[in-house]
Amino acid sequence: MNYSPAESRYNTMLYNCCGRSGLKLPAISLGLWYNFGGIDPLENCRAMLRRAFDLGITHFDLANNYGPPPGSAETTFGQLFKQDFAPFRDELIISNKAGYEMWPGPYGDWGSRKYLVASCDQSLKRTGLDYFDIFYSHRPDPDTPVEETMGTLDYIVRSGRALYAGISTYSPEQTRRAARVLKEMGTPCLIHQPRYNMFDRWIEDELLTVLEEEGIGCICFSPLDQGILTNKYLTGTPEDSRSAKLEHKLHWGDEVTPERVAKVQKLNVIARGREQSMAQLAIAWVLRQPNITSALIGASRVSQIEDCVSAIDKLDFSGDELQAIDKILMK
Ligand SMILES: NC(=O)c1ccc[n+]([C@@H]2O[C@H](COP(=O)([O-])OP(=O)(O)OC[C@H]3O[C@@H](n4cnc5c(N)ncnc54)[C@H](OP(=O)(O)O)[C@@H]3O)[C@@H](O)[C@H]2O)c1
Repeated sequence: MNYSPAESRYNTMLYNCCGRSGLKLPAISLGLWYNFGGIDPLENCRAMLRRAFDLGITHFDLANNYGPPPGSAETTFGQLFKQDFAPFRDELIISNKAGYEMWPGPYGDWGSRKYLVASCDQSLKRTGLDYFDIFYSHRPDPDTPVEETMGTLDYIVRSGRALYAGISTYSPEQTRRAARVLKEMGTPCLIHQPRYNMFDRWIEDELLTVLEEEGIGCICFSPLDQGILTNKYLTGTPEDSRSAKLEHKLHWGDEVTPERVAKVQKLNVIARGREQSMAQLAIAWVLRQPNITSALIGASRVSQIEDCVSAIDKLDFSGDELQAIDKILMK
């Protein structure tokens, strides 16, 4: 059936300027890392993308390796884009990345010009798009000079494959160097994509200051710690959860431990006091930082997207609430 997006789609979502650029991103963006792969039911993927757009989520985040299998989230997105979203291309910000292993041999990984350009071209083909809005270096490469990796992002932008350049998981020092190189080339670094949530606060030490100084936006991934910062694991591990599907080995060394669940139980009391779900509290908490442009969530079903988007109904925190949250997290 033809898709007509909700006319109300711009009524409630907040849109934040990305650093000192003219680009605005929705306060909540949707990533396709999981649940959009070749193994996932296409109609659920379609329903999630449609509902997200209807709720004002104008930004979808991809990478070459999302699936499983790697590349298949792009194929899924491409198919749904063609069927549902092509008339709305100019209302969408679609990002992509390269930096992790995609094909065998020395040219299918990390940050060389050879890999990034080939991967970007493959990603355009799989999605069927003419260009990406943002193209990222997915991770810093210790063996490739930053000048080469950033020079390639500049080339990808100048050749029309992408409109903006971004970096992901770069340290504060690596970010300063990358930003300097990109600035010299005339393609400013639009955005940084670090991991940030209540259990992983590394960006608060220095990175946020660097981003503020350089005028770079910040979209933080895994604001729900892959689902741990929701009510999902409070009474055990559901069979259809990411943790169960990955045999309790979540990425980034994450684990659903009794200690973490105990903290989430306490955080959930604060959430209830604010008349929010636990997921909404976790999202509002990352968005409390003035220089966070967007919280980049994942979802496995429509109801999760609806729940997460309602976080924007209550983004303010009292000093007491923030102190109480810190106390729980520090224990
Ligand atoms: N740059 C990078 O290196 C990098 C790395 C990782 C991710 N990312 C990006 O960030 C995006 C988000 O990452 P993420 O999926 O880890 O984010 P997340 O939002 O922390 O976790 C998403 C998971 O949380 C659960 N969930 C979401 N909303 C919920 C709700 N309202 N109630 C209960 N459970 C809920 C779902 O788990 P179930 O599936 O168990 O239902 C969902 O799959 C990715 O898609 C990708 O675009 C980037």
